[in-house]
Amino acid sequence: KKKLILDVDTGVDDAHAIMMALAAPDVEVLGITCCHGNTPLDNVLKNTLRVLQAAGRLDIPVYAGCEKPLLARKQHAGDYHGKDGLGDVPDPNAPGLEMLHKKNAVKAMIKMINENPGEVTLVATAPLTNLAVAVQLNPKIPKKLKALYIMGGNTESRGNTTTCGEFNFVADPEAAYIVLERYTCPTYIATWEFSCRNSLPWSWCDELLAINTPKANFVKTISCLSNKKARSADYQKEVTEGKGFNSCDTYALAAAINDTLITKSEEVAVTVELEGTFTRGMMVLDYMGLLKKKHKAFIMKEVDQEKLKEMFMNSMKSK
Ligand code: BDR
Repeated sequence: KKKLILDVDTGVDDAHAIMMALAAPDVEVLGITCCHGNTPLDNVLKNTLRVLQAAGRLDIPVYAGCEKPLLARKQHAGDYHGKDGLGDVPDPNAPGLEMLHKKNAVKAMIKMINENPGEVTLVATAPLTNLAVAVQLNPKIPKKLKALYIMGGNTESRGNTTTCGEFNFVADPEAAYIVLERYTCPTYIATWEFSCRNSLPWSWCDELLAINTPKANFVKTISCLSNKKARSADYQKEVTEGKGFNSCDTYALAAAINDTLITKSEEVAVTVELEGTFTRGMMVLDYMGLLKKKHKAFIMKEVDQEKLKEMFMNSMKSK
């Protein structure tokens, strides 16, 4: 079985990704580490437990990690994900925070990787604060990972948070910088533009949400607000280039569990702008090799949409 650690800021699309990981037959989720991001850390923790409850998998350990970025000012994405991060639909049966594992997320991440050297795939769909702190505490972590999958950054300076910055990188640019410098394991990045270009048709999304299973009903409930926003003409024009359903975190997760999902990628050294007035947090691609970085990342370009749809459908249908 593929061993995964999910580093999340649950958020609607993180929730989709967690559901997909839990439904995959050949995958073991060792633990879920939580980070500030789409919503404050406390909400991230509650939301993650809600997703696990909906999937019937409260046995998976959930850990609390960094509640703020390394240097940047805290920011969240409540406009899109809702103030609570999951579409602002009250859930009277939500599990309480006493369900959390006591260990700190960064320490737990280091421990899980050390106990499974060469076997763990880390999927990061949040600002990269937990990963940055982990490598500062234990510089050998990247060498022990099998692979790192990130949802974050951008390739054409098309932002969703600042003019040219993507949320996860903008929310903690220093952490993104540290991770791209120091994680020398095979690294795969699902950028904002990649997820927009490969978004799925709304007609298909309607079919997905019409599946009548407890999991699909949960996903339907939490996705109402963000889907309404994403379907609005303004958002489509300004933010997603007029495409469809874009559950960006799910691309990173799906790629991590299915090696044949990504049909085209580009290998290039990447870093992050830390200073620009307009460009802080923007991912920088070094096509000419001027930065003399040995380590290159795989930047995802195209996805097998039929496979992705099938993975989504299965994650809603499976027990
Ligand atoms: C990323 O930011 C968040 O809003 C999403 O959950 C995703 O991780 C997209 O920029």
